[in-house]
Amino acid sequence: MYNKLIEEALKAKNNAYAPYSHFRVGAALLDVDHNITRGCNIENISFGATCCAERVAIFKAVSQGQKDFKAIAVVSDSQDFTFPCGICRQVMVEFKIPIVIVGNCSGHYKEYRLEELIPFAFDNFDANQVL
Ligand code: THU
Repeated sequence: MYNKLIEEALKAKNNAYAPYSHFRVGAALLDVDHNITRGCNIENISFGATCCAERVAIFKAVSQGQKDFKAIAVVSDSQDFTFPCGICRQVMVEFKIPIVIVGNCSGHYKEYRLEELIPFAFDNFDANQVL
């Protein structure tokens, strides 16, 4: 069901800018209008300025006016499934991306609900308690 999304993430990986870690990551974000936005990791010599593939895809789509998403896929060159980092999971919470597809370099994948990857997340509801 998510083969196409994984294929797009694998294509995105080819554009990764990862001269420091040599760990190439690709992401593909499916929105409610069935568009797919790709992202790759973009590193920086000031390591903290690096941006993960998932956030590149999410920020691209949001900057283009889309805020409603169905699923995001992530892959790397590894045969292991690549899971999103904690910061990316928090950004996925912000935009309520319900499904996360973790893939490997051969195109195999597993599907998770975001709640499984970041249980008890800090969300708008928590922040609004004090307002
Ligand atoms: N990276 C991602 O792009 N996504 C993740 O979820 C994990 C980490 C990138 C950041 C950095 O360029 C490289 O992988 C090594 O950490």
